[in-house]
Amino acid sequence: MMDEVARHYGDGQLLDRILDAVTAAGIDPQELTVHDLASVDEFHIGGRRATRHLVEGAGLGSSRRVLDVGSGVGGTARYLAAAGGHDVVGVDLTVEYVETAAALSRLVGLEGSVEFQVADVMALPFERGEFDAAVQLHVGMNIADKQAAFAEVGRVLVEGGVFALYDIMGRADTDLEFPLPWAGGAAGSHLATADQYVGALEAAGFRVERVTDRRDFARSFFGELRERSGPPPSLGLHLLMGEEAPTRYGNMVKAVEAGAVAPVEIVARRG
Ligand SMILES: C[S@@+](CC[C@H](N)C(=O)[O-])C[C@H]1O[C@@H](n2cnc3c(N)ncnc32)[C@H](O)[C@@H]1O
Repeated sequence: MMDEVARHYGDGQLLDRILDAVTAAGIDPQELTVHDLASVDEFHIGGRRATRHLVEGAGLGSSRRVLDVGSGVGGTARYLAAAGGHDVVGVDLTVEYVETAAALSRLVGLEGSVEFQVADVMALPFERGEFDAAVQLHVGMNIADKQAAFAEVGRVLVEGGVFALYDIMGRADTDLEFPLPWAGGAAGSHLATADQYVGALEAAGFRVERVTDRRDFARSFFGELRERSGPPPSLGLHLLMGEEAPTRYGNMVKAVEAGAVAPVEIVARRG
């Protein structure tokens, strides 16, 4: 499963593609900011707006050290460091994403407050209670055994530490059209309902504080993108999704619009 996930997301040329697009957008890579990268480095429905909604609602405020589970190319981690002053460690299975995340963080001058490691959430390379908080955005769809993953996140969190999740949820037997942004076929997709997430979190030792369906937000976000005129911007999530980007994105929009899946936030606390 680990190899399948890394093959799905990485193709070897991502940093070059992003830097070419940065230049095409008229931005000097040496002057790059966290804000400039927002349209390409938040690989989840609603981008930075969704991240802000999740972390502000979860009250990460005074957390010093935050774990970003499945950190992708590091957009959420950089946002947490830049806007919230947190020290963030991102872990991800996809080597290319981890390298790209580190390179982009150096370019925006955040290498002192974010770091990225290649690691599987099922076996985190950290000691018990090392983190004050954890976030996970659009990762659970790749994880078959969610209870085991949540137990591992719980192990590295302090007692009372908050875990803020934003995943695409739905029934495992939902009939989906592939490819999707998170999987090329059904074998790589592991959907669960919000109730199943809550059950897995509770069984892993978390107290669930809030479940928020973000379907309406997703629909209005897709609507805004549809109404945008002119050519698509050079900096966008298509850079992460490769040649199949329009199909993957289109299939996801259809599934959300049809009510088959929805992005959902869950805020839980350890212990
Ligand atoms: C759709 S991307 C989301 C990335 C990032 N959270 C964001 O929102 O921009 C899903 C990410 O989860 C990572 N991932 C999937 N399974 C994982 C696992 N078991 N452990 C660590 N990372 C994983 C993938 O490599 C990929 O980078």
